[in-house]
Amino acid sequence: MPGRKVCLVLLAALVTSGAALPQSAIRYDAASRVWQLSAGEMTYEIGVNDQNGLQTMYWGPRLEGPSTLASAKSYPEAASFDASLSTTPLEYAAWGDGLPTQPALKISFPDGNRSLILDYLDSKQTDGPNGDRLEITLRDRLAEVYVHLFYKVYAPGILARWSQIENRTKAVITVEQAASATLNLPPSTSYELSSLSGRWGAEWQLQTVALVPGHNVLESRRGSTSHQSNPWLAIGRTGETTETAGPVWFGELGWSGSWQIDVEQTFSHRIKITGGYNTFDFSYPLAPGQLLNTPIFYVGYTSKGHGEASRILHHFQQQQILPGAPRPKPRPIIYNSWEATEFNVDEAGQLALAEKAASLGVERMVIDDGWFGQRATDHAGLGDWYVNQTKFPNGLKPVIDRVHQLGMDFGIWVEPEMINPDSDLYRKHPDWAMSFPGRPRTEARNQLVLNLARDDVKQFILSFLDKLVSENDIAFLKWDYNRNWSEPGWDAVPLPEQKEIYVRYIDNLYNVLAELRKRHPKLEIESCSGGGGRVDLGILRYTDEVWPSDNTDALDRLSIQDGFSHAYTPGVMVAWVTDVPNFLDRRNIPLQFRFTVAMTGALGIGSDVTKWTADESSLATRLLAFYKTIRSTVQQGALYRLVAPEANEQSALEYVAEDGHQAVLFAFLHSQHYGEPFQTVRAKGLEPAALYKVNPLDPAKATGLPQQMTGSELMGLGLSLHLIGDYDSTAIVFEKVERK
Ligand code: GLA
Repeated sequence: MPGRKVCLVLLAALVTSGAALPQSAIRYDAASRVWQLSAGEMTYEIGVNDQNGLQTMYWGPRLEGPSTLASAKSYPEAASFDASLSTTPLEYAAWGDGLPTQPALKISFPDGNRSLILDYLDSKQTDGPNGDRLEITLRDRLAEVYVHLFYKVYAPGILARWSQIENRTKAVITVEQAASATLNLPPSTSYELSSLSGRWGAEWQLQTVALVPGHNVLESRRGSTSHQSNPWLAIGRTGETTETAGPVWFGELGWSGSWQIDVEQTFSHRIKITGGYNTFDFSYPLAPGQLLNTPIFYVGYTSKGHGEASRILHHFQQQQILPGAPRPKPRPIIYNSWEATEFNVDEAGQLALAEKAASLGVERMVIDDGWFGQRATDHAGLGDWYVNQTKFPNGLKPVIDRVHQLGMDFGIWVEPEMINPDSDLYRKHPDWAMSFPGRPRTEARNQLVLNLARDDVKQFILSFLDKLVSENDIAFLKWDYNRNWSEPGWDAVPLPEQKEIYVRYIDNLYNVLAELRKRHPKLEIESCSGGGGRVDLGILRYTDEVWPSDNTDALDRLSIQDGFSHAYTPGVMVAWVTDVPNFLDRRNIPLQFRFTVAMTGALGIGSDVTKWTADESSLATRLLAFYKTIRSTVQQGALYRLVAPEANEQSALEYVAEDGHQAVLFAFLHSQHYGEPFQTVRAKGLEPAALYKVNPLDPAKATGLPQQMTGSELMGLGLSLHLIGDYDSTAIVFEKVERK
């Protein structure tokens, strides 16, 4: 626009390697008071409108060059029942002034007033090596209540949003609802919402529903992220959005406590997404001068379908979120004792497993539950983190030393936030467990939740873990969390502060994890919660990997892992090969199929390997060696879900290395029907003109394939594979041939 002063504030966050994604940038047009935030293939625009409110103007495909948008203009009222406030897509609306849709913020003042009207005040931009940051401050029209909205853009195509509520009045005010952000989509009647739901043993079920006017609430009220619903969503357009094409607006929250994402279709078919703290039972008193920070809501947009949305998230998680980002350490191959021995761990048994695991090529030996306190079953011991003398009369040292001699490092299971009533800790500190005094307390798996919002509990957890890791050469903790909250009472603090437990518990959890990692920089941690009950971008800032599900049945795992991959990188997705018949489904799946399924994530073994036959052991040895050659492609490459496992009798996945030198394709035949041949699988994400050496894991299943194929042949012609019979599977590696 001629004469418009466009100030290019910053260009930052060049992609360090791999496919050349566009840069991220924030531009501000002072004349129109419009901000344009671009990241990857997305642009997001906001502006100050004629009412001095902060309004969403655009969220969609990247706009190049200076914005041509005029100033934001509030929308007219639709009727006397729907004032301008309910039709205008505001960036962060507080409840007040008659807002009838989901508020981002609700506050009550000591005089009983509960109305808040947020006007634009000012803004500030800062540059960082990892992205550009914008802070916009809103202020209540009358009271000294401020809301700071933060925006940060990242090159892979992610916008991070969060808010900070500040009380500059002279009295205590109570925050009754606080979201990180509201996001608005333009009107359409054909939106569909994808989300991930489930339960223990059946997490990560992908659900897609058409949106109709009203609210879809994705949430956990359980004090932790939950198996039942994960804080991830993707919105597409019915008939337009598929795995490989069409618009997808997506997001995930970085919070491991009770959370909520409200997806509202308003009467005018506008979509309003409001995410942050769960509003249920929420209350946070803010004293004069105090601040409340909300979790980070990470969002993105692509016009290339659900597959690309996942790849953007995976890339972002590797580049920005995980410990060690932008180069998180590859996950070692773990042996874990849980399914083999359950609570019956002891020195001789664990050493026998370790010897065998090492001979197969395993890199890390992990002793699971049962090594501490008086832990014979799940009835006792949680809280007593000393080595059980009967099971390990010489302590852990001889086991750890031998594990090292065998060329592996050592890890151990802990469940720091829990307590069994039958424990010395409980007998000493019964008040440390969460409860409502005088009311019944609910036990689950015979355990209670320690109130980690308390500083003494935080100190206890930090110091026992620090001692355990300092006194033993421990490279890895599997950090478990086996129940939800039931009575979130905290009577040790005055009444108004008791509900701060929802925030303070999680803040303290993050503090303990951060401090432990600071004191032990080489320590790696897995987030487990009876399977995948605590996987989110909050915990992933402090944990290197996660356990997606206790369900280790390879067929179920295909769907579980498929759902998981929509939201999180396979680089953190631990997958074990376990014994058959599977403990949950009683299915007998052949060893190769179990291995290939587990090799599509961070491979581990949980079988009783001492019982493996010579044939099974040699297959395992060969597959572990094979996995090591494709590990970085699987864990850090770009994932293409070629054929989804749900509703198909066959499925296929492909991973392309960041630098394109290698790709690996996995194919699975779940169940054979009518003697039908395995359908042709076409690769994706390769360079059409490049030549690839075709290296099949099982040459007999790939007979007739040329030894070299171009990318265009692999993607166009595809591959005919000879998979036959129930639970057949294979993998094929494509190595790019450097032409002279
Ligand atoms: C949870 C975990 C399992 C195992 C057990 C031990 O269920 O998900 O992997 O560690 O606890 O009690």
